[in-house]
Amino acid sequence: MFENNLVTKLLGIKYPIVQGGMAGISEANLVSAISNAGGLGVIGSGLMPASWLEKEIEKTKKLTSNPFAVNLFIPNLKIEELVRVIIRFQVPIVFTGGGNPLPLFPYFQAADIKIIPVVPSSRLAKKMEDNGADAVVVEGMEAGGHIGQNTTFSLIPQAKKLLNKIPLIAAGGIYDGKTTVAAFFLGADGIQMGTRFLASKECIVSEAYKKKILEATADDIEVVLRFTGHPLRVIKNKWSEEMKKLEEKGAFPEEIKAEKIAGSLGGEDVENIPLLAGLSAAGISEIKSCQEIIEEIVREIEKV
Ligand SMILES: Cc1cc2nc3c(=O)[nH]c(=O)nc-3n(C[C@H](O)[C@H](O)[C@H](O)COP(=O)(O)O)c2cc1C
Repeated sequence: MFENNLVTKLLGIKYPIVQGGMAGISEANLVSAISNAGGLGVIGSGLMPASWLEKEIEKTKKLTSNPFAVNLFIPNLKIEELVRVIIRFQVPIVFTGGGNPLPLFPYFQAADIKIIPVVPSSRLAKKMEDNGADAVVVEGMEAGGHIGQNTTFSLIPQAKKLLNKIPLIAAGGIYDGKTTVAAFFLGADGIQMGTRFLASKECIVSEAYKKKILEATADDIEVVLRFTGHPLRVIKNKWSEEMKKLEEKGAFPEEIKAEKIAGSLGGEDVENIPLLAGLSAAGISEIKSCQEIIEEIVREIEKV
């Protein structure tokens, strides 16, 4: 059914369902489970060192023979080393988040690696196309983690109108068959999900973190750190309260260190770490395997 889909054709996968890179969280187990189920697993390298990425790529290659990708977080100060690892291991696809990926384009293009930036506006989506990106992810502010100002509903049709050549992948607030069908109806060629896969059997975050996602209503989810220029969507807890207090006290943006924010596992402690999650957490009520999540979505698409 998806043989002529632009995303499956470009990436060599069965279903146009991408797992959004999650810094330090989407590692070999999660990534391979998703790729084995016919989607695209994406290693989230975040602020991790190149040695971590190398190990996860090696592990993933043992666990799946299907395509998988790496998500690069642009603010990572060691990004050059990570780029070298990706090229050395010939990972076929790279996603980028958290900044301007254009300086990296020539390296990946020379190595024949597909590059798919994640962007928060239709204007940037077009700019990525003009500079040779192979596809683009537009991410609405419903998403978990760092967010922009546009909603997924507004982004998809606007980006679709501007793009002439490359496939459009939508992210932010998509978590099941219905939200996927809605994204396709608006013009997306594929979808990317983060929060739904956080609450999967294979994800390495603690059971306590997953329970927080299952229990969350929309009122439990908030955006903090707007004053830093890098707003972050999280589930409310002691940590998010602390961030709001810092803001009220007049903290400078530099006082909020990136290491404090980038995906933290935190064991069973769900109060003193940033619990990154999107608004879709409010619609997620069951932990499922990645295969179940993907198959359910595919069934729903087929039904419609
Ligand atoms: C815990 C967590 C960590 C994330 N880390 C990254 C990251 O390192 N790089 C990135 O581009 N996006 C990151 N994201 C965004 C996801 O890749 C994805 O685009 C987003 O979760 C989609 O919205 P959803 O949460 O509504 O599914 C993260 C999201 C979450 C929930």
